[in-house]
Formats: sequence, C-alpha cells, structure tokens
Amino acid sequence: MGSERPGSQILGTGAYAPEKVLTNHDLARTVDTSDEWIRERTGIRERRIARDDETASDMAVAAAKRALEAAGLTARDLDMIIVGTVTGDLPMPACAAIVQHKLGASNIPAFDISAACAGFLYGLSISDQFIRTGAHKRILVVGVELLSRVLNWQDRVTCVLFGDGAGAAVLGPAADDGRGVLSTRLYTDSSLVESLCIPAGGSREPLTAEGLEKHRDKVFMVGSDIFKIAVKNLTSASRAALEDGKLTASDVKWVVPHQANLRIIAQVAMRLDIPLTRFVLNIERYGNTSSASIPIALDEGIRDGRIQKGDTVLMCALGAGISWGSALVRI
Ligand code: UT7
Repeated sequence: MGSERPGSQILGTGAYAPEKVLTNHDLARTVDTSDEWIRERTGIRERRIARDDETASDMAVAAAKRALEAAGLTARDLDMIIVGTVTGDLPMPACAAIVQHKLGASNIPAFDISAACAGFLYGLSISDQFIRTGAHKRILVVGVELLSRVLNWQDRVTCVLFGDGAGAAVLGPAADDGRGVLSTRLYTDSSLVESLCIPAGGSREPLTAEGLEKHRDKVFMVGSDIFKIAVKNLTSASRAALEDGKLTASDVKWVVPHQANLRIIAQVAMRLDIPLTRFVLNIERYGNTSSASIPIALDEGIRDGRIQKGDTVLMCALGAGISWGSALVRI
C-alpha cells in the first residue's frame, strides 16, 4: 500500500539472458506453428534458451552482480535476498539459498517467492515493507526463470510463448527527494489454478512414469482463460497503484508491464489511456520470461537511457495462481 513518505528506493538493476536464441522459424521446424501466427497472436519473434549446464541460480547471480555493481554495493552489503521463481534449481531448498552462497553474501535471510509471473512484484513489495519498518536496509530482489526445462516442446500452445532469463534490483532506504517505491498492490484469486499450472511433481500428484509420459510435469495453460482476466486485472491493479500515489495516467512516464502477450499489453494501454509508446517492450526478443520479465525490461529501459532518474514508472504483472500485482516507483 502507499504512504506519504517513500520507504525504499531502487538503488540499481541488472539483467541476464542466455546467449542461445530460438526464433519462431526454428520452432516452426519442430511443431505445427508459424512465425506469422506467433508474431500476430503474441508479438514474440524469438526467445533465449539456457545452456544445458546453466541453472536458474547461475542466471540469477549474473543479474544480481550487475544490479549490485549498478548500486555501487557488494554482496556483503546485502541483508536479505528474495528470489521470485517457479523454476528454481531444486524442489527444496530455495533457489535464494543457492544464490546467497554463489554470491558470497553473509548469513542473511534468503527465500523464494512462488508467485509465478508476479514474483518480482511480490518481492519488490515485501522488500519495501522490510525497509519501511527499518528492519532491513539492503535487499536484493531477483526474478529468474528457466522455463525451457518445464515446457512440453511438442505442445505448440505453450512452447512458443516462454523464454529463459533473470532480472534483479537492489533496494535500500529512500533518500528524502521524492524518489522511491510509492505503492505496491498484490492480489491472488485461486479460482483459475487449473488454467495455468504444472499439474504433477508436487505433493498432490507426485511424478510417476505415466505422468512423465503425459507431460504432466510440464506447463499446462488454457490461454484464453488467462488472457481475459489478465486484461481486466492488470488494468484495475494499475489504477489502484495510481490512486495510492494520488497520480493519474498522465503522470506516468513509463509503464514496465509483464511481457506475456503484446495484445494483452495493448488492451491494458488502451484502458489506462497511456500510449503504447510509453511502454517498455521487449517481448519480441525474449518472449514471456515470467518473473524475470519486469526486471529485465526495467533494466533495459534504465541502461538505454529511456528511464531517467525521477521518472515515475508503473509496473504490472499477472500469472499462475492467478497472482497479480502492480507497483508505482519513482526511479
Ligand atoms: O505469463 C503468464 C500469463 N499468461 C498469459 O498471460 C497468456 C495469456 N494468453 C495468451 O496470451 C493467448 O491466449 C495465447 C497466445 C496463449 C493464445 O492465443 P489465442 O488468441 O487465445 O489463441 P487460442 O488459444 O484461442 O487458439 C486459437 C487457435 C486454435 O486453433 P483452432 O481451435 O481455432 O483451430 C489453437 O489450436 O490457434 C491455435 N494455436 C496455434 N496455432 C499455431 C494455438 N497455439 C498455436 C501456435 N501456432 N503456436
């Protein structure tokens, strides 16, 4: 929720994307799809795929190092690590614990957030609360996904949509200059759990040989269910964030949306009455990287100079859960 005085501020951002590019044309050679269908229905042209020997924690660490460098800090300065991911290295323990070790951070709390595509915004909101109370001062928030390992590469409905990557931000107490996290809003509605999930591999349905054969350990999605609710909920969450900050759409310099589908983003833009030219978009090059999509786009916008110090940035994301949220940040 918002308050008069910003409690935390983004001190630095970083991102990492694997080198290997998989284009729509590549996919059209292995599944019944086409570059034209994917581009027109989603806006995606290509996505990045991790090397076989690369892990989610490796990607998270690469993004985190860049964010720390941008913040002028080292891993030793951190007092908490939050990783938004549904594709961590191991079912147990948290990916954040492995990230902590690889970064060489001290014995600080490190935990994962399982909020799928909204994972980075959940992490941002949680770190904002810890910094507001004064309990913690330097928090690393990472969104990382290695979705290529949990896709059924024969299912054209899902395999064309997702990609691998990581994005990170380091947060610290806000200076008294109006910059910082102005508002965060988080929501979950579990009525659509079955419309976007990995059905097996958890405690409800442990993985069996039969389950493996039926790809029940892979992402399943009824895209049209999620599409409709995404447009509605991303719009209302964005409006709520603006209300918290007592701002209007015209005060927003940039929108950094979750990059799931360009048509979803365009409909949200229309409803919010913010031109698409004020959205930071990279779905064309990365596809849907779930929790990594917002921090990758945010980092890109900051590094290429589009997003400047003092700009008001609106972020919004929705994914499995369904969990969604928004954040309003003065950079
Ligand atoms: O980040 C997590 C949140 N996820 C989302 O926000 C995703 C939300 N959903 C979507 O983005 C869209 O629903 C999709 C891109 C997944 C699908 O687009 P759609 O316009 O909703 O297509 P559809 O599912 O209604 O399918 C239309 C047709 C179907 O064929 P028929 O039944 O009309 O003959 C599909 O079988 O398109 C077919 N189709 C494809 N054709 C070629 C589905 N996938 C493909 C494909 N290539 N890859």
